[in-house]
Amino acid sequence: MQLEIQNVSKRYAKNSFGLKKFSLNIENGILGLLGPNGAGKSTLLKMIATVHKPTEGMITLNKNNILKDPNYMRKQLGFLPQDFGVYPNLNAIEFLEYMAAMKGIGGAHLKPRIIQLLEGLNLIDVAKKPIGSYSGGMKQRVGIAQTLLNNPKIAIFDEPTVGLDPEERVRFRNLISDLANDCIVILSSHIVSDIDTIADQVAIMKNGSLITHGNQEHIINNVTNHVYETPVKKENLSAFKAKHIVVSTTRKDGQWMVRYITKHPIENATKRQANLEDAYLYLTKTN
Ligand SMILES: Nc1ncnc2c1ncn2[C@@H]1O[C@H](COP(=O)(O)OP(=O)(O)O)[C@@H](O)[C@H]1O
Ligand SMILES: [Mg+2]
Repeated sequence: MQLEIQNVSKRYAKNSFGLKKFSLNIENGILGLLGPNGAGKSTLLKMIATVHKPTEGMITLNKNNILKDPNYMRKQLGFLPQDFGVYPNLNAIEFLEYMAAMKGIGGAHLKPRIIQLLEGLNLIDVAKKPIGSYSGGMKQRVGIAQTLLNNPKIAIFDEPTVGLDPEERVRFRNLISDLANDCIVILSSHIVSDIDTIADQVAIMKNGSLITHGNQEHIINNVTNHVYETPVKKENLSAFKAKHIVVSTTRKDGQWMVRYITKHPIENATKRQANLEDAYLYLTKTN
């Protein structure tokens, strides 16, 4: 699979852009799409999913122009929108049958597929209860099941881990890594730890533009040798934060241990191994 996004912009109002001249090539594997709220992640994903049309630019899947031929995308797509809604009066099986009908999926394989997904997502015990009685995490898992109904070759999850507890996050991660062999999986998040253990490639965006794209090592290289930790007294903390890019502050022995990014470390700072969180913070703060 090959998804090419070329110079895509989305204008919502006269001077309000959700996306600006955005270009990115995506190949098989898991892409983690990171960016702060308002970066344009949902705007981009909705255009890939053919829910919205770009104001300008081109999107192709395996060289097919999906703006002209959206069905080429839709046939192979699974999409979990950020604001996914469920029907509270249906149970999980009824809801998935309904979604299958909307997607034109039917036949003898459907019911076993639904049961398989409900088992994989640990929903089988509640499958006959109305979705309105589910917790947020359970509803989210119904949304994930819906995305996978048609064994998609391109699966897009917009902020999928919102509302999931830590155990559910692990289960979701396992499910995704099984999926990604010969297809494109895109996971968006504003939280690095949601994607860093599973993403083959990472794209970081802000203000409707791409900041960087590549494997994790390539992105971490931006801050290699520039991550330090140093103790800071409580009364100096806010001045320190104003001057430096601070990744985290943790309490230790009555003072603060600050992890920060700098090219000119102060004397008692200790160098630390850089990680994706450091790089994400650095890149989104300095771009
Ligand atoms: N339907 C809309 N109408 C007007 N502006 C929008 C609409 N959807 C998104 N935007 C704006 O586009 C920008 C990108 O939003 P969005 O794609 O939702 O970002 P993200 O998903 O990264 O949080 C934001 O400034 C947002 O306010
Ligand atoms: Mg969003």
